[in-house]
Amino acid sequence: MIQLENVRKVYETTVSLNNLNLHIKPGEFFGLLGPNGAGKTTTIRLITALTPVTEGRIKVNGHAVHRNGTRFKADVGLVPQHINLDPELTVVENLRLHGMLYKIPLSAITGRIKELLSFIEMEEKADAPVNTLSGGMKRKVLIARALMHEPSLLLLDEPTVGLDVFSRRKVWDLVKSLNARGMTILLTTHYLEEAENLCTRIGLLKKGNLIMCGSPEELKAITGPVVVEQFQNEKTSLHFFKSQAEALEFAAGLGENFSIRQARLEDVFVKMTAERVGA
Ligand SMILES: Nc1ncnc2c1ncn2[C@@H]1O[C@H](COP(=O)(O)OP(=O)(O)O)[C@@H](O)[C@H]1O
Ligand SMILES: [Mg+2]
Repeated sequence: MIQLENVRKVYETTVSLNNLNLHIKPGEFFGLLGPNGAGKTTTIRLITALTPVTEGRIKVNGHAVHRNGTRFKADVGLVPQHINLDPELTVVENLRLHGMLYKIPLSAITGRIKELLSFIEMEEKADAPVNTLSGGMKRKVLIARALMHEPSLLLLDEPTVGLDVFSRRKVWDLVKSLNARGMTILLTTHYLEEAENLCTRIGLLKKGNLIMCGSPEELKAITGPVVVEQFQNEKTSLHFFKSQAEALEFAAGLGENFSIRQARLEDVFVKMTAERVGA
């Protein structure tokens, strides 16, 4: 579906991505997790050919990605990090414009818009100018727009930043239902909770390097299932163990300043990055 081979991106002096290898399979819900500046948007911009790779190769459904490639573009829908709808135009006008850019026959555009407005539950806002909508609604229109040309792959770049809890859940429901219908999803986020909730596989990006990649279960297996949290001099350190018995044996020497619990995905990231990546 998506294949990145030895992809490197350098902007002048900044190395944004360093030798990235990633293979996303059809139907997968892949989460690219990382703090600000990790290279998430760069990855999305490379996959959509908005910027060229410095080194390496990218293919979508077997078609090489490049600026003038029309084959791969038909397969890809993009929900960008920054809202780039035309604020003066209505919801329907924005969607229609996208349909025309993608050369969808006018006769089909109207039906498609109706279907998508129903999917995002915004029929009553069809003729509202975009600049009158809430942030959550704009995000939903971006999703509808990305789906206009019926792509098989949807890329979402931090789709829930700045949204309230309710709108965030709504966006999650929409992408989950698309994935359940077979659509391949690549979502970037700096919210650990979001990746954990949605994704079947997660890659952790740090300063342009993919430092680990796997299903939540595979990632948790990296550390071991039991954690001893030790509190010392106002600092918490984590120790990982294969069994409760091993953890207890270790903890016996710690006095009262510890707790024992099951490992969470966040622990894995703390261990691997020595910093918290969640919000
Ligand atoms: N157009 C650009 N010119 C120069 N540097 C850039 C450009 N875009 C991104 N970068 C740099 O590349 C790194 C990764 O950025 P980005 O992919 O936007 O990270 P993220 O989306 O994970 O926050 C950052 O250090 C950023 O400053
Ligand atoms: Mg970004």
